[in-house]
Amino acid sequence: MRIPATDILTGRRILLGVTGGIAAYKSAELVRLLRGAGAAVRVVMTPAACEFISPLTLQALSGQPVREALFDPQHEAAMGHIELARWAELILIAPASADFLARLRAGLANDLLSTLCLASSAPLYLAPAMNQQMWQAAATGENVAALQQRGVKLLGPASGEQACGEQGPGRMLEVSELLAACSEHFATDANPVPLQGVRLTITAGPTREAIDPVRFISNHSSGKMGFALAEAARQLGARVTLVAGPVSLPSPAGVSRVDVQTAEQMLTAVLAAPADIFIGCAAVADYRPELVAESKIKKQAEALTLKLVRNPDILAQVAQTSPRPFCVGFAAETDSLAENARAKLAAKGVEMIAANWVGARAAGGGFDSAQNALQVFWADGEQTLAMAPKPQLARQLLDLILSHYPGRRP
Ligand code: PMT
Repeated sequence: MRIPATDILTGRRILLGVTGGIAAYKSAELVRLLRGAGAAVRVVMTPAACEFISPLTLQALSGQPVREALFDPQHEAAMGHIELARWAELILIAPASADFLARLRAGLANDLLSTLCLASSAPLYLAPAMNQQMWQAAATGENVAALQQRGVKLLGPASGEQACGEQGPGRMLEVSELLAACSEHFATDANPVPLQGVRLTITAGPTREAIDPVRFISNHSSGKMGFALAEAARQLGARVTLVAGPVSLPSPAGVSRVDVQTAEQMLTAVLAAPADIFIGCAAVADYRPELVAESKIKKQAEALTLKLVRNPDILAQVAQTSPRPFCVGFAAETDSLAENARAKLAAKGVEMIAANWVGARAAGGGFDSAQNALQVFWADGEQTLAMAPKPQLARQLLDLILSHYPGRRP
C-alpha cells in the first residue's frame, strides 16, 4: 500500500499574515511551500510588510489577491474581512514583528491583520522575527507570555546571526520548520505526519582518507542527495541526524548535523545516533592508506606505492546492530546496475538499495549534479524513480521507504 505522505495540508485554508521585518522576504518561499503541499493560502500584509516585499510577489505565488487595507471597497465587495476571518482554518503570522506582538496583546484592530486576528476563531501561530535586544526586552517578554496564556502558539524564534549583524535569539524559524508546524497542526490519527517522532540518521557527502598532512583519497560526492533527503525527512516530521562528510552545503533547518572527515569517524558518529531508520547516502571510501605520513611526502622515487587497507562498512555494520533500524543503502554504479545493487542488498543485509548511475552513464545525474534518477530495489520488488531535481527525488524515495517501513504508526 502506498502511504499518503503529502495530503495533510491538501485543501487546508491558511491565512498567512506578514508584518514588517527583513524576514518578510522569506514569506515568498513559505507561500510556495504551503501551496506545494496543497494548502489554500491567502496573504494579508501590514503596511510595514509592503516596505520589505512586494504584495505582487505574494499574489503571484499564492494565486490570490493579497490584502493590505482594512478599508478596501473592492475587496469588501468580494471577500470581506469578516468573511476572510471565518474562511481561515489557521492563521500563521510570519514574520511577527515586536510591534505586531504588542498590538495583538493590546487587542488593537487598527489594520486589517490585527482586525482579522480579533475577528477569527482560528488558531493563531506566530513566528517572531526581530533584533535580539528587542526580543529580550521586558515588554516583548510580557507580551509574548500574555499571548501564550491566551492560547497563541509561538514558533521560534531561532538563535543565530541576525540581519543587523548581531548574534542572539530573534531569527525567524526556517520556512521548512513553519511548514512542518502547519502539517503537525492539521495531522490527525487517521492522517498523521508520516515520520512524526521517528529517529532518522542519514549519511551524506564523501569521506576523506589522509595520505599525509596535505593529501587525501576521496571522491566527487557533493552531499546534495543526502542533504535533500535530510531536509525532506525533517519536513515529514522525522528527528533527523545528518552525518556529513566534508561538503560545503548549509545545514537543512531543524536537522542535527555532525561533521566528519573519515569513514571511521563517520561510523563512530552513526553508531552514536540510535535510529529507527538509517539511510546510507554517503560515498564512503572503501579503503584508506594503512599509514598516514606525519610530514608531506617528498617527490623522490619515480613511483610511489601506497598500501591501502579496508575501511569499515558502515551500512553493513548498522544493519547488524541490535535493535537494528530499517536500513536503506545507496549504490553508485558504472555498470551492471541492477545486478550490483541486488548483490549489495543481500551482502549488506539491508531492506532497500537505491541505485544510481555515476560516471559516463550518469546522463546528467549522479555525483555533484542538481538532479538524479534512482532504481530502488527491495527483496521482492523494485521501482524506478525518473530523473528529477534531488529535493523532489528525495521526497519520492522517502514515500517509498514509508510504504515499506513497518514501524510507521497506523
Ligand atoms: O553527494 P551527491 O553529489 O549528491 O551524489 C550522490 C551520490 C551519487 C553520492 C549518491 O546518490 C550515492 O550513490 N551514494 C552512495 C555512494 C556509494 O558509496 O556507493 P557504494 O555502492 O560504493 O556503496 C554502497 C552503500 O554502502 C552506500 O549506501 C554506502 O554509503 C555504503 N558504504 C560503502 C562503503 C563503506 N565503507 N561503508 C558504507 O556504509
